[in-house]
Amino acid sequence: MQVKIEKLDNFGRGITHINNKICFVENALPNEKVDIEITKDKAKYQEAKVIKILEASKDRIEVDCPYYNKCGGCSLRHLAYDKENEYKEKKLEETLKHIGNLNIRVNKIIYNNEFNYRNKVTFHNANNKLGYYEKNTRNIINIDYCLLLDNLINDNIKNIKTNDKEVIIRSSNNSKELLINNKDHIITNIGDKKYYLSKESFFQINKYLTKELYDLVRNGINKKYKKCLDLYCGIGSIGIYISDLVNEVIGVDYNESNINDANKNKELNNINNIRFICDKVENIIDNFSDIDLIIVDPPRAGLDNKTKDYIRIINPERLIYVSCDQATLSRDLKELNDKYKIIEITPLNMFPRTYHCESVTVLERR
Ligand SMILES: C[S@@+](CC[C@H](N)C(=O)[O-])C[C@H]1O[C@@H](n2cnc3c(N)ncnc32)[C@H](O)[C@@H]1O
Repeated sequence: MQVKIEKLDNFGRGITHINNKICFVENALPNEKVDIEITKDKAKYQEAKVIKILEASKDRIEVDCPYYNKCGGCSLRHLAYDKENEYKEKKLEETLKHIGNLNIRVNKIIYNNEFNYRNKVTFHNANNKLGYYEKNTRNIINIDYCLLLDNLINDNIKNIKTNDKEVIIRSSNNSKELLINNKDHIITNIGDKKYYLSKESFFQINKYLTKELYDLVRNGINKKYKKCLDLYCGIGSIGIYISDLVNEVIGVDYNESNINDANKNKELNNINNIRFICDKVENIIDNFSDIDLIIVDPPRAGLDNKTKDYIRIINPERLIYVSCDQATLSRDLKELNDKYKIIEITPLNMFPRTYHCESVTVLERR
């Protein structure tokens, strides 16, 4: 069946309509004419794969990876990188409008190298195969080199000898230290701050852009604040990075490994005005008072209702929302809109060649 692609959806798939039913077409770009085969037919939507590209978009590029569409990692390797950046910027604006009912011009997207940016990978290991799971299955695809991974990781894949079923590999942001399962930590850095990072702890995965991300948070802090909550703080990295701009910081994360590292990082950087609490944000958000700055960096699910209610009750002068999911960000900004005015939103392409996009929103109490 021949169709014309209208636009890209939130997952980087082409959208077309067949008899008024929406159809998602993998690997198809806007304005392309493609011959497709339907792979799923549901009541409200269809999915299809491309059999032949009849008229290719001028934004289409040659795919440079042998594992593309097999390993399930990248989703936009067939789109020129500058167009990917445009798409992510536009998609954030559209989502803010559709889900958040917010008509906002976001800032220009910040981006950097699309290759070798990832400082962490989790490989699966079985039957002499080490690599990623094949898309939608548990079959392992052997990976010798991944275009997204830091080259210190790539260079060491061949040396990995282990029976562990899961292999976590991390490299420091200066690509000097490597962690493979049996080593328990590395020291990495963002700007002039050093971070102790354990195997199990959370750390931003883009070695090129984390400083830009944290600088956006810093720039959103427009004066000296008294008491700051750094919610979903991971290993304390944002709180420590901005600790000179506030009198006191309290970081909260429910992961023990993160909080153990956060306490080490406080010592490593000689920071005296920060403390950390290991608990769920929603369990303790009702315990705080006199907070004038809140920074949140939740997982993709965004903020839960209790946390949002208490942000409204605590009502800090300034709120900075770091997000890796524009749909939940848009929902949360809509719900906070009566109390908080958006000053600016900046997207960052922290996850090049995938459909994911990071952003920093700076808000002010109305
Ligand atoms: C996107 S990461 C952000 C970490 C940190 N801000 C950074 O820049 O590295 C989200 C963090 O939220 C933590 N987390 C997830 N759900 C949580 C909850 N309900 N309460 C507390 N922490 C939570 C995770 O452990 C993870 O460290």
